[in-house]
Amino acid sequence: MLRVLFLFLLLLLASPGSSAAGPAITARTLSPCYSADLRPAQGGLVSAPGCTVLLVPPPLQTAQVVLWEYRSGPEEGTILTHAVDGPTNTSRPYQNRTLFNQTDFSLRLLLARGDGRLYRFRTEAEATGWFQLRVVEPLSQPEILGNSSVKAGGSTQLVCNAVEGQADSYWWKKNGEVLLGSEHIQFVGNSTLSIAGASINDSGHYACVVSNQVSQNETSFLLHVQNAANVVLPMILACVALGSLAGVFVWCRGRDRPCHNPCR
Ligand SMILES: *[C@@H]1O[C@H](CO)[C@@H](O)[C@H](O)[C@H]1NC(C)=O
Ligand SMILES: *[C@@H]1O[C@H](CO)[C@@H](O)[C@H](O)[C@H]1NC(C)=O
Ligand SMILES: *[C@@H]1O[C@H](CO)[C@@H](O)[C@H](O)[C@H]1NC(C)=O
Ligand SMILES: *[C@@H]1O[C@H](CO)[C@@H](O)[C@H](O)[C@H]1NC(C)=O
Ligand SMILES: *[C@@H]1O[C@H](CO)[C@@H](O)[C@H](O)[C@H]1NC(C)=O
Ligand SMILES: *[C@@H]1O[C@H](CO)[C@@H](O)[C@H](O)[C@H]1NC(C)=O
Ligand SMILES: *[C@@H]1O[C@H](CO)[C@@H](O)[C@H](O)[C@H]1NC(C)=O
Repeated sequence: MLRVLFLFLLLLLASPGSSAAGPAITARTLSPCYSADLRPAQGGLVSAPGCTVLLVPPPLQTAQVVLWEYRSGPEEGTILTHAVDGPTNTSRPYQNRTLFNQTDFSLRLLLARGDGRLYRFRTEAEATGWFQLRVVEPLSQPEILGNSSVKAGGSTQLVCNAVEGQADSYWWKKNGEVLLGSEHIQFVGNSTLSIAGASINDSGHYACVVSNQVSQNETSFLLHVQNAANVVLPMILACVALGSLAGVFVWCRGRDRPCHNPCR
């Protein structure tokens, strides 16, 4: 115990303060993790809460003690200290969700929301550069606001909103294929689908797709263009019976609802 304390003092004295250009940590997200990039990276990595990240330090000169540290603004702290051939002391907030490899000193960290910060590995002699970890919330199914029932020749606007998480991009699909704009189908801003002068051909199964660096999600719905001559009521009732919202406001959330054929 005294020995460990002594080593600690040594460490504090020898602490390499500015180590921006130290040898680099390599990190990667372990599978499974939404649709995050699983390739190894140096310098920085984007991952998601609930995913596990493996941080691997380069070989550093060491005699007695190694440690993993974090920094977040002015806040700094120690994740764990390990006396070579001795005990590993993991700080409490990390105890349940880290796995330290005593052979290669790598660290597995099960990510929580607040883990987007800087990390480094240090020995009494050397330190790595700081590694930037970003933790991005995965996207839930977006919500779609607007009227998905339109009279032939009429117009409608559908707005797609990310409910949980921040979307980097939005796009739309029709019957499974990327929807391209045309004279009467336009994308307003980044998340609104605007249909003017709708024709029967515009009917179909649409989806709004949202994505960010760690995930992709979508919500689909049936766009129903009512032909004046058609008897639409039975079809609408069928859709409502299949779990859609009330009235002529026809919703089919999720791809797997058996909604699109009867509603065509
Ligand atoms: C482990 O570390 C904590 C603080 O980081 C310290 O209070 C505690 O005494 C250490 N335990 C051992 C066994 O070194
Ligand atoms: C660690 O997990 C155990 C059970 O899995 C739980 O009882 C304990 O409170 C957890 N400790 C921390 C620090 O989260
Ligand atoms: C620790 O690292 C060594 C060397 O990379 C590896 O052979 C071993 O399987 C690892 N142990 C665990 C528990 O991951
Ligand atoms: C989409 O979001 C729902 C929650 O709204 C979630 O259960 C599902 O796993 C997400 N899908 C993907 C591919 O992330
Ligand atoms: C949706 O549009 C259709 C056709 O234009 C109209 O009959 C219906 O009342 C609208 N529904 C809502 C909820 O606005
Ligand atoms: C969408 O567009 C608005 C304004 O045009 C902009 O403020 C916002 O950042 C954009 N969002 C995305 C995810 O591109
Ligand atoms: C609708 O689709 C049919 C067959 O794909 C095509 O022959 C017709 O010209 C289209 N009508 C309009 C108004 O685009």
